[in-house]
Amino acid sequence: MKITILISTLISICLLPLIPPVQTPELTASIARGREIYADFCLQCHLANGEGTKGTVPPLAGSDYLKKYRIESIRSVKYGQSGKIKVNGIEYNGTMPNPNLSDEEVADVMNYILHSWGNTGYRAVTVSEVKAIQKEK
Ligand code: HEC
Repeated sequence: MKITILISTLISICLLPLIPPVQTPELTASIARGREIYADFCLQCHLANGEGTKGTVPPLAGSDYLKKYRIESIRSVKYGQSGKIKVNGIEYNGTMPNPNLSDEEVADVMNYILHSWGNTGYRAVTVSEVKAIQKEK
């Protein structure tokens, strides 16, 4: 009896990561605000489909950088980004000016890009998470 409970508990723990994260009303609202911010501050470079321009502006759609470097991605949006970075195997060495957004706007636009153009499976970015991220020395 005990062993059955143990096994079923283990199985449910293993299956947990397969359950897609539920989109809370807060996240849905944040994504909607982020869409407006994207149109005003990001679209001109990263384009409406998030594909950027190969070799000049890195993509946000399907970006492995977003997947691998959550903190660095948020930092880019909070403070701007320059210097060499590699996105989907292609090197970029450009400059993204500081968009000068509030922490809430950074969280909203991050939530928009992490849940658009096929990007999925990301935890919601919170204002306190953004607040805690500091400029690199
Ligand atoms: C003036 C053009 C420009 C604007 C406007 C701009 N970016 Fe960027 N962005 C870039 C460039 C260029 C890079 C790569 C910089 C480098 O080479 O170090 C970049 C890098 C990034 C990265 C990290 C790399 C990646 O592709 O995952 C993210 C995330 C990002 N931008 C999001 C945004 C968001 C969100 C906005 C709007 C708030 C925005 N950018 C506005 C040009 C821009």
